Amino acid sequence: MSENILTYFEQIKAQGLSIDITRGKPDSYQLDLANDLLSMNVEPFDGKVDLRNYGEPLGIEDARVLGAELLSAPADHVITGEQSSLMLTYQMILSKYLFANPVPWRDIETPKFICPVPGFDRHFRMLEDFGIEMIAIPLIEDGVDLDALLDALQNNSNVVGIICVPRHSNPSGEVYSDDNINKLFEIGKKYSEDFLFLFDHAYLVHDFLPTKNQIPVWKLAEQNKTTNQTVVVTSFSKVTFGGGGLSFMAAADENLSLIKRIRGSMVICPDKVNQKRHTKFFKDSNAVKNHMKKHADLVRPKFEIAYQALEKLDKDIGEYSRPTGGYFITFTSHKPIASKIVELCKEAGVLLTPAGATHPYGNDPKNNTLRIAPTFINEKELEIAMDVFVTATQIAHSQA
Ligand SMILES: Cc1ncc(COP(=O)(O)O)c(C=O)c1O
Repeated sequence: MSENILTYFEQIKAQGLSIDITRGKPDSYQLDLANDLLSMNVEPFDGKVDLRNYGEPLGIEDARVLGAELLSAPADHVITGEQSSLMLTYQMILSKYLFANPVPWRDIETPKFICPVPGFDRHFRMLEDFGIEMIAIPLIEDGVDLDALLDALQNNSNVVGIICVPRHSNPSGEVYSDDNINKLFEIGKKYSEDFLFLFDHAYLVHDFLPTKNQIPVWKLAEQNKTTNQTVVVTSFSKVTFGGGGLSFMAAADENLSLIKRIRGSMVICPDKVNQKRHTKFFKDSNAVKNHMKKHADLVRPKFEIAYQALEKLDKDIGEYSRPTGGYFITFTSHKPIASKIVELCKEAGVLLTPAGATHPYGNDPKNNTLRIAPTFINEKELEIAMDVFVTATQIAHSQA
């Protein structure tokens, strides 16, 4: 390694930077796109429902219809919740844990879940909360590695489900092919008719470059006769406001009853005023898609800045994803240096998502996967953060 790079790194450190690229959040210009929601008046009573009072535990009708359009599921199979799809997912897992038929997961000896990797740390945390053992299988370009899935199922009993992010997977950006999802259904259904297919469609409408078309997951579930085993969630957290949007879930049969039951113990009804504001803001799913084009124009340049920096890295150091949507770039080093890169970046005042966060139990066996979240900070800060990342990576590689 040249002395120059170490000297340069010392100079960066002396600047006392404080930049956080740990989480995939919209920047304030993106949030501004939905500012009309802040001052939007809604009629409190539409002749049927008083938005201000308790009632409509599954969400107001037009919000359910909007969710149904987005998820391509019948409206009576869709519920609209509060702002967090992660909470709906948690509630679904909790209800399976307590009440699933014929055997609640809590009565199964070491229930297990398939987790495609790299994946989303909060999914792993949630499953860990329930003591559900996680089995990691790799993602490949068009979805999950089906051979690895088959292998995992052949070698494990009591696998109760899989959790997938089928479009712009967090963090590596895979967009599952229809064929991959069809095979997933085929394999899971054969393994057990109680196997749960949990699809977290957090990035359903978050393309920033042309992206391959997908048949909606719910439609594929209908074709495969697996709607009774399928749950799909999405939200407006990165469409309108994080913490102030809406969440949606499509489910059928026992799963629909279970989510109603568990939510009935927790929330008497969701925030219907906010639901009405959103359905006034978005008349239909096309309005959502048009709105997301404006997000795309703000997000795309951030990714381009990140690539300009990453291109400076020699090919033998590692590779990075080039997603067509979503919020993340995944960097994969050839040497086991992910934790060292994070440590060096931290010394220089740039916070990255911890190494290992992309894998169950925080354990990335190759210590080579890192998630970069370029959207939240401004372009100048991003250039600086990426320069730190590239420099830290070069140092970590040469010292390993
Ligand atoms: C895959 C995935 N699911 C869920 C969420 C959180 O969604 P929500 O805000 O609707 O709970 C995120 C946010 O980063 C995510 O990346």
